[in-house]
Amino acid sequence: MTRCVYVNGAYRAYDDALVHAEDRGFQFADAVYEVIEVRDGLLIDETRHMQRLARSLSALMLPSPMSEPAFARVLRETVRRNRVRNGLVYVQVSRGARPRDFLFPPPGTPPTVVCLARAVSRQKGTAKAQNGIRILSQPDIRWQRSDIKTVMLLPASLAKEKAKAEGADDAWFVDGEGNVTEGASSNAWMVDNQGRLITRDLSPALLPGITRQTLMHLLAREGLELVERPFTIAEAQAAREAFVTSATSLVMPVVAIDGKPIGNGAPGLLTLKLRDMFHEVAKASAP
Ligand code: PDD
Repeated sequence: MTRCVYVNGAYRAYDDALVHAEDRGFQFADAVYEVIEVRDGLLIDETRHMQRLARSLSALMLPSPMSEPAFARVLRETVRRNRVRNGLVYVQVSRGARPRDFLFPPPGTPPTVVCLARAVSRQKGTAKAQNGIRILSQPDIRWQRSDIKTVMLLPASLAKEKAKAEGADDAWFVDGEGNVTEGASSNAWMVDNQGRLITRDLSPALLPGITRQTLMHLLAREGLELVERPFTIAEAQAAREAFVTSATSLVMPVVAIDGKPIGNGAPGLLTLKLRDMFHEVAKASAP
């Protein structure tokens, strides 16, 4: 449970953690965010997440609201006040609150910064990984800059709702050429029948996932072959294994796509091994 939320310089009780009605994030989805795993009280891959936040801010021409050390302090203080040992810390920056106007507010308008932390049971994640998740594919109706981590998450939310309504756990987006772009809130992977790991190459069509990047270091360390290229749903359905990566799901096996079992329908052994080994390469920074 989140007890307290950082909002614009103050730590507020959860029920009092309010943002203005004319916030640009609320009216225009004019905001970017990061989600960082907290594990044993440590922030996993914090540097990479903060680098991506800087990149997202810059892509939207949004000045950074505070220095890196100041961000680091806010993240840690939010984790500490919420007594989170295992879970996540979320940070969001919007262009601030001004009377509604499509044009950007004048320079100097204070941005809105929100940070919250939440405990998530590690056992629940492990149990989920033992069963694997079922995917429903859907057309990618998002904008053409899905590489920027904005709060414009309505298509992802709709896709996840649809997946749930149809008995699946999550969604994969498919582009106009029939290739998988990514998961609704994760990167998509498959292991082909030669044991190669395949994930889509980076472009404006998908988010450069931090878990994806860190996993690549693990693959290199283990001497596993990686191919960055687009793949179709049919290819993934015929693959030996499939999985998703994100800061919240880590490395999560996919056992079915659009009702078709992957491999023998159980979580892939390589996937589970990569999940077990992931934190050997992920960088944990001490609070
Ligand atoms: N989502 N692709 C999308 C569209 C995402 O939203 C995410 C993460 C990822 C994986 O990125 P990373 O490995 O850096 O977490 C890929 C976060 C977890 C969320 O919105 O909750």
